[in-house]
Amino acid sequence: MATRAFRNRDLQLRDYTHLCGTARERQVVSALPIVDRFVEIKSLRGRRDFNPTHYRELYGNSFPNPDERSPWSAMIGSVGDMNHIDHSAKLQAKYRHLRYHDVVALKGRAVAGFTSFATMPLESGKSVVYDLYTGVADRLFMLGTYGIDTEFRSRGIAHYFYVLRHGMAEEDGRKLGYSSEVAGTMLESEMIGQANDEQSIRNTRTRLQIHQRMGALVLMIDAGSDCWITPHLQPKLSDDSNPLLMHLLFRRLQADGVHLNHICEIDRELATSFLRAYIYSFEHQSTTTEIDEMRSNTDSRLAAGKRFILVPPDKLPDMVTLASNDPLLREQIERDYGSFDGHARKVKQVLGQL
Ligand SMILES: CC(C)(COP(=O)(O)OP(=O)(O)OC[C@H]1O[C@@H](n2cnc3c(N)ncnc32)[C@H](O)[C@@H]1OP(=O)(O)O)[C@@H](O)C(=O)NCCC(=O)NCCS
Repeated sequence: MATRAFRNRDLQLRDYTHLCGTARERQVVSALPIVDRFVEIKSLRGRRDFNPTHYRELYGNSFPNPDERSPWSAMIGSVGDMNHIDHSAKLQAKYRHLRYHDVVALKGRAVAGFTSFATMPLESGKSVVYDLYTGVADRLFMLGTYGIDTEFRSRGIAHYFYVLRHGMAEEDGRKLGYSSEVAGTMLESEMIGQANDEQSIRNTRTRLQIHQRMGALVLMIDAGSDCWITPHLQPKLSDDSNPLLMHLLFRRLQADGVHLNHICEIDRELATSFLRAYIYSFEHQSTTTEIDEMRSNTDSRLAAGKRFILVPPDKLPDMVTLASNDPLLREQIERDYGSFDGHARKVKQVLGQL
């Protein structure tokens, strides 16, 4: 492959203001950003814009549990391929309409935030973002890494990232000729209580609260008689990890509106298209057997559905409650945390429900 140097690309929020989907996004985008630049990474070797090691450190700091992280090589491995894909039939055949992007928010040369995501088509033809990993530096990280006493969390950076990701999805859809419309963003999150230690259990709830603030709702299958099950099984991300039932969330492009605090029904085709898009994103990196397993698992879960709903995260039962209707989830709890009853007690205690 050619060895020419690639230059990182500066992104301008003003180019994407038409894709602000909430009042809060319009507000943060019209105010002065608290960082200096948003840069799409094209080169991990060059240290002109920032030190790539700091991106890796912020990734580890934002996702301290190794089980929830993809290996760094996989996380960043597609940057090179994405640089060459427009001129390589082999790479186009490998990734088809899937495009990966890594964007960092910089204060000077300090990495204050990052978002790693893919764009791809839904069956409707609209493009969708799959938000893989997003992290923003807290004060401790900034002090430890740069000696800068600044808190970047809770200052709107995650809202900027939504707008940038939707803008880049629109560009990809247009460029690849499948769409000029963006449906929104899909992302995964642990269920409430899907963690081992007390702090991490609390974090599972906080993370869902943050997603809810930004307009994301959780896709659930309603199997009738108040029995909700998740349709979403994440395949193993590395040789020493396990497949995980988790939550799949969807944030519509336009998220202002009444539905955000209510459970709303969506049609089976739309629900199915999110799961198909998710599987599509694994096709270039998983074996045929793994993909077949994902498909058959998803199909059998979907078949149980009487209706499909998007649920505001604060209306979700915790993992232990969901497991009472889901034998596979119960097995997962026993595999990951030892005893079902022990984990149930711990979750209820930490979440103040005992
Ligand atoms: C999740 C994370 C990326 C949010 O980034 P951020 O830049 O701090 O988020 P923002 O400031 O844009 O806030 C987004 C919304 O969430 C809310 N929020 C942020 N932190 C919160 C917290 N700890 N508890 C409750 N709500 C919170 C904000 O109030 C905001 O809503 P508002 O603007 O309507 O008030 C950041 O906390 C982080 O890096 N966490 C660790 C990694 C992680 O969990 N990533 C998410 C999974 S991909």
